[in-house]
Amino acid sequence: MTAAHFSERRLKLADMLPGIPVFLASGCDRYRNYPGHTYPFRASSHYLFFGGPNRSGHVLLILNGEATLYRPAPDADDEVWHGPSESLEELQSRYDFKEIKNLEELDEDLSTLGVDEVLALPSSDAATNRFMEKYLGRVPDLDEDPDVDLVDAVMELRRCQDEAAQSEIRRAVQATVELQRVVLGASRPGVTERELRGELDKVMASNGWQPSFNPIISVAGEVLHNPFYTHTLADGDLLLVDCGVEVESGYAGDLTRTVPVNGQFTSTQKAIYDIVDKARSESLRQIAPGVHFAELHKTASLVIAQGLVELGILKGEPEELVEMGAHALFFCHGLGHLVGLDVHDMEDFGDRIGYEDGEERSSQFGLSNLRLSRELEAGMVVTVEPGYYRIPALLNGPLGEKFAHVLDRDVLQKYEDVRGIRIEDVVLVTDDGYENLSEALPTASSEVEQLVGSLSPV
Ligand code: GLY
Ligand code: MN
Ligand code: MN
Repeated sequence: MTAAHFSERRLKLADMLPGIPVFLASGCDRYRNYPGHTYPFRASSHYLFFGGPNRSGHVLLILNGEATLYRPAPDADDEVWHGPSESLEELQSRYDFKEIKNLEELDEDLSTLGVDEVLALPSSDAATNRFMEKYLGRVPDLDEDPDVDLVDAVMELRRCQDEAAQSEIRRAVQATVELQRVVLGASRPGVTERELRGELDKVMASNGWQPSFNPIISVAGEVLHNPFYTHTLADGDLLLVDCGVEVESGYAGDLTRTVPVNGQFTSTQKAIYDIVDKARSESLRQIAPGVHFAELHKTASLVIAQGLVELGILKGEPEELVEMGAHALFFCHGLGHLVGLDVHDMEDFGDRIGYEDGEERSSQFGLSNLRLSRELEAGMVVTVEPGYYRIPALLNGPLGEKFAHVLDRDVLQKYEDVRGIRIEDVVLVTDDGYENLSEALPTASSEVEQLVGSLSPV
């Protein structure tokens, strides 16, 4: 990303909000038990989008296409503990600011502009909201005037990725492909999930990458966002690896592969794996501008329902099973989400970004977890990530009872070596279709078998 890219984005914002000042806070440090020891800081994506250093306590004030950066005044004590701030020249060449000022000047500049005229966005972090309240006299609100105009403008600018963003996402996805190859390559019976997490961290740290979310590395793939690494991989297990690299500019990757730990799917594992991979390829193939993402979700749901009917796990007509939501016993999340500066891009805006104006989220279990339900546009980047999970809490709960008449538990029992399978690609919507940005990482069952254990033992 160059300064010219940020200037272009600020000018576009000015076209949408002429003469209106916009206040973007990088965010505040979160600390452990005292301010000297902080958690790793990562600036707000809305702030990063318009160009500012990834440092806490900074503010971008943008007016008519020009940005002034406010940063904490140089402080000798801070320099002793944390080193010098970036030089003015360095900041200027990276971001092209109108001016760089001390935060102490912000109050006065805001009152000159008329603080009630200034638009801002709320943060998910309470300290950052208090920081904004101190300057603006209010906590910004997504649903209230005047900030709602800024929410609309930012969604319009960030929903489709500009060329600079597309090339950053490509880098993040390529990096994630490399990362997956290392983790899958180190997988074999006897290795622990923790050791695999160690391999992942080593690649991340040595390249200067950050995780775009907490990596999932687990043989208990039925736990959708399994945050623990407590198992040892065993012969006959499937391993689910869902991870993403965030590159220096902040853009994210997000890929999932599921592999047999011993390098060979059993016939039952392969049967279900191939259904999930078909759901991935058939829904992905429909991607094009104008296609509604909910239609892709439906395609994936139908492929899964049909596959499970053919195996005898579900009984009935696939269309009817999907209509009543029975497939969600096994595929209970949405097909995907937007990807950008956030791995679930702009989901801090809730269904405003995920759903078309006037469209409501379904209350039917399964569909209720669909995060993205809008028409695709060229430049959007989305994940396609169908899955199959045997989740005791669903099968033995009210949902299992509700669908008892279409579920053959004896047949399901034969597939007990399949706990969780997810396959996830990242796809760019192009003018005439799509480009699978993660095509370099195979999904076919015979090819993912080759990835397992392909590197020397850890
Ligand atoms: N694990 C987060 C996601 O794939 O959406
Ligand atoms: Mn993922
Ligand atoms: Mn994802």
